[in-house]
Amino acid sequence: MKEKIQSLLAEVEKLQASNEEELEALRLKYLSKKGIINQLMADFRTVPAEMKRELGMRINEAKTAITDRFNELKSQLATSEEDHSDLDLTRTPYPVKLGTRHPLSIVKQEIVDIFARLGFSLADGPEVEDDWHVFGSMNFADDHPARDMQDTFFVESHPDIILRTHTSSVQSRVMEKMQPPIRVICPGRVYRNEAISARAHCFFHQVEGLYIDKDVSFTDLKQVLLTFAREMFGPDTKIRLRPSYFPFTEPSAEMDISCNICGGEGCAFCKHTGWVEILGCGMVDPNVLEANGIDSTIYKGYAFGMGVERITNLKYQVKDLRLFSENDVRFLDEFMSAN
Ligand code: PHE
Repeated sequence: MKEKIQSLLAEVEKLQASNEEELEALRLKYLSKKGIINQLMADFRTVPAEMKRELGMRINEAKTAITDRFNELKSQLATSEEDHSDLDLTRTPYPVKLGTRHPLSIVKQEIVDIFARLGFSLADGPEVEDDWHVFGSMNFADDHPARDMQDTFFVESHPDIILRTHTSSVQSRVMEKMQPPIRVICPGRVYRNEAISARAHCFFHQVEGLYIDKDVSFTDLKQVLLTFAREMFGPDTKIRLRPSYFPFTEPSAEMDISCNICGGEGCAFCKHTGWVEILGCGMVDPNVLEANGIDSTIYKGYAFGMGVERITNLKYQVKDLRLFSENDVRFLDEFMSAN
């Protein structure tokens, strides 16, 4: 019996199985009920008592060795079945879809960066505002049409609470807290109760700017806006200011730039005038300074405000405003290279 076990142990190392059937054959031969190990166990009963101890240990040794080998072959077989060596690892992978920044975010950031270089710092404020910060402090008369239900979204239960219609409300909040010099830029979303179409939406984005100090002139305003226009649309861009009216500025103007689509020649986009309007601006009305706690006999200021959608349209010629809020990835993907 001793020799039998000896030769069994010698065999173990050589055992091989190249597929499931061979593995099963090994199990049947060695480890099943009628297998060699169990036969040895049966023979063990007839072994003389004085040899039981040594032979018992040997049989166990053989059983462990065979079981270990069997498990080893089993796991080898399992990994070789997952063998991917026939895969073509040089093949071009499928493209991984990366997110892109929204075109409005790209353009807003560009605007903010230009003004940051000119010394403006960023200011932020709530989109749900009170009437005072949106209208009252901005010198809107009580019966001004912008307060009308047609333009403004009201909160039904609180008639004093509205969705801001312009980011001038942020300027009001800044003036409340700070004394001049003030030089801030306020980007943000604003809401107006308009029917949604290709040319109008019930919300859009603005960037407004405010500068207040002792000797601020209209010339300063014009120079800053010219610099902005050239940084944004190229060094050949021309600007023109047309007199206008806003409750919060006096004098007020609207600024056009030479159409950057046709270069001022005249095209459908600029309605063949060669000019497109991009912003409103003016010298801050003394009433606004006073309403916000700033002494208008010492300080003067200018303000301007523009729509981010409009600037984006000029840069990228997006024909339908609704595209900006539909999140169609085919549209958003077009701005991949602008990121
Ligand atoms: N608040 C104005 C608007 O929403 C824009 C503006 C800002 C005009 C500052 C002049 C000065 O239309």
